[in-house]
Amino acid sequence: MNDRLKILKNIAILISGTGSNMEAIINDTLSNDHPGIVKFVLSNRSDALGLLKAKELGIKTFVFPVNRTNSLENFEKKLLKLLTNKKIDLLCLAGFMKVLSKKFLVNFKGNVLNIHPSILPSLKGLNTHKRILKKKSITHGATVHKVIPELDSGKILGQTTIKIRKGDTPDKLAKKLIKKEHYLYIKVIRNIMTGKNKIIQID
Ligand code: GAR
Repeated sequence: MNDRLKILKNIAILISGTGSNMEAIINDTLSNDHPGIVKFVLSNRSDALGLLKAKELGIKTFVFPVNRTNSLENFEKKLLKLLTNKKIDLLCLAGFMKVLSKKFLVNFKGNVLNIHPSILPSLKGLNTHKRILKKKSITHGATVHKVIPELDSGKILGQTTIKIRKGDTPDKLAKKLIKKEHYLYIKVIRNIMTGKNKIIQID
């Protein structure tokens, strides 16, 4: 066995949609100096575009639907089993639009990270691009943080910012920000996997 394989830490990614952050994370782990390996991608939605991308990149995918007949509690039970079976150390939420319960977070022994499109603690919750424009702010951004039961409230591990220009719309902001989100998320993952505590700031 190659030496690198012995020390790799196992990553799993949860998505609900496009999966561009997921793609950036997978691509980064494919470089030789990366301490992690993505073991699987899981979505609560079978139509999540990111599932196709993950498959193309050779990553195992799972769909555990959450709807009227399949509860979030059930989703979490099955997810926990999978995380244990695959010996996952780090669970990355990448555009995963469900809120994980306290019970799940207490039971999972690895780290759980999330990327949120605002400069937390400002603008927790949804529609952050629209809300930042309404605030007439000149700066917007994204945050990678540890996940705790309180929504978008765990320890901040890194942040990135963009300038808001005249004529920006929610769509334009989302497009500008997403590229910086990718860069931020992969940096934070490398940091946390190599035991570095420094908070990352990318302007
Ligand atoms: C990203 O902008 C991410 O920050 C946001 O969803 C988008 C997912 O894009 N996450 C949240 O709003 C979580 N509350 P992606 O699927 O292309 O990575």
